[in-house]
Amino acid sequence: MNTIMILIFVLLPMGAILLSVVFWSLRNGISPMPTARKVKRTLLKVLPRDINGPIYELGSGWGTLLEPLYRLYPNQQIIGFETSPVPRWFSKLRLLYLRQDNVRVDKRDFFTQDLGGAGMVVCYLYPGAMARLRPKLAAELKEGTWVVSHTFAIPGWQAWQVYEVNDLYRTKIYAYRVSGA
Ligand SMILES: C[S@@+](CC[C@H](N)C(=O)[O-])C[C@H]1O[C@@H](n2cnc3c(N)ncnc32)[C@H](O)[C@@H]1O
Repeated sequence: MNTIMILIFVLLPMGAILLSVVFWSLRNGISPMPTARKVKRTLLKVLPRDINGPIYELGSGWGTLLEPLYRLYPNQQIIGFETSPVPRWFSKLRLLYLRQDNVRVDKRDFFTQDLGGAGMVVCYLYPGAMARLRPKLAAELKEGTWVVSHTFAIPGWQAWQVYEVNDLYRTKIYAYRVSGA
């Protein structure tokens, strides 16, 4: 390969991918950093099993949680919302081989998405998003819906249970259950 070929087929596409990820990370206020392995392992252990309705992952990134969620809840609809195109395409590709209709990733801004039908909402976001989500979750989620967030809590909400991950940061997993009160 000569230099022009390397430029056209390697450097330009890589640059475009990098630019896209950086642009959407700035726009969304967070990069598509995946849930760390230890956190994921604990999360999958402690997630409630009594889910009644679709599971929404807010900001599904590269899709690293979508497949394990599907395996844990094969009878539920699992939907990830992700606006950043590169991670979303990547997760679509990794879901392809599953060939399952009930797990998918949608190009949606979760702040504008009606979350009302959810049986459970899962997220790994950042403090500003949790504060912004709080009134939305309170207004839209039905009684009994689970909300599970790791690393960042929903300000002002009383967690049903807080789990601590045995990692360097003692990462917290916050499990909330929407009450009718
Ligand atoms: C820290 S990553 C978490 C990825 C994945 N949930 C995980 O735990 O491995 C947060 C993701 O949320 C996405 N995101 C942030 N705000 C969003 C919004 N309003 N709508 C859709 N996706 C959003 C970002 O693009 C990013 O990929």
